[in-house]
Amino acid sequence: MSPITHRHALALALTAGGFISSCIMAGGGPVTTTNVDAVMPKTSDDALASVSDFAVITDQAKRSQALFIEAGKVLQHPRCINCHPNDDRPRQRDLETHVPAVLRGDDDHGIVGLRCDSCHQMQNVQGTKVPGAPKWGLAPLSMAWQGKSLGEICEQLKDKKRNGGKTLEQIVDHTAHDVLVAWGWTPGADREPAPGTQQAFGALFAAWVETGAHCPPHDPTTAVFPADAIMKTSKTTTTTTTTTATKATGAQR
Ligand code: HEC
Ligand code: HEC
Repeated sequence: MSPITHRHALALALTAGGFISSCIMAGGGPVTTTNVDAVMPKTSDDALASVSDFAVITDQAKRSQALFIEAGKVLQHPRCINCHPNDDRPRQRDLETHVPAVLRGDDDHGIVGLRCDSCHQMQNVQGTKVPGAPKWGLAPLSMAWQGKSLGEICEQLKDKKRNGGKTLEQIVDHTAHDVLVAWGWTPGADREPAPGTQQAFGALFAAWVETGAHCPPHDPTTAVFPADAIMKTSKTTTTTTTTTATKATGAQR
């Protein structure tokens, strides 16, 4: 899983795409990614750029999209996406299958006899490594993020029919204050926390709304899949590679 690499490609498409295509049309030479690096703040995987780093992007809609892409480092981090699956099972660690096997049930908090809170307490438990926070349960299916592009996640977050009837202001408040979101930065045991801080993440969301809440375009390569789905994907990749290799050999003859 490498959402960060994809994110760079998306950022490239957003901030320099027009420039590149005009160069190609004008018969210009190859364009390096330096153009983008000049505008997209550079951060490591475990950090978040601050809102002021985006001031260099003068086009407000593009700045808004770039802010969302940066916030997406958190949204698509295992600490968040493990609880926002597009099926009936939570994931754990790096999007691996939840052990023991549990189901979301009718209210997203488990089935009779195997409720989430029969194991997950109000806080992390040291000895057993079971993570915990109040109201532990899966995000409803309409808020699923696994397997969706950043653009799709963005559109869905803005849609009151799918986001639990929240206004944009309520979404900003949720990102900055919700207890399950907060858990992402205090996950306990040896789990890697979400990038940056919850405060910095909330600030990126607030700035995204202030700049018009523009979504990045739908780019399927930005989707993050759980480990048990990746196996299917890599099989397809292998087949594609083989086909390409066969074609290449054919061309050489
Ligand atoms: C333990 C499971 C769990 C974890 C971990 C979790 N969420 Fe959620 N999330 C939920 C549930 C349940 C809801 C729906 C509850 C509600 O709307 O108040 C939700 C709703 C949301 C929403 C509301 C809008 C929408 O359409 O999705 C946002 C935003 C959100 N989560 C962000 C995050 C972020 C960011 C993280 C990681 C830092 C995270 N969540 C981690 C369970 C979780
Ligand atoms: C029978 C006990 C049990 C039940 C019931 C249970 N879990 Fe878990 N869950 C665990 C244990 C143990 C872990 C820690 C696994 C590990 O990290 O090694 C865990 C980990 C998780 C994680 C991973 C956190 C992370 O990012 O690594 C999520 C998310 C999760 N559970 C969600 C749920 C949800 C939602 C439910 C209810 C639908 C639920 N669990 C029901 C035992 C349970």
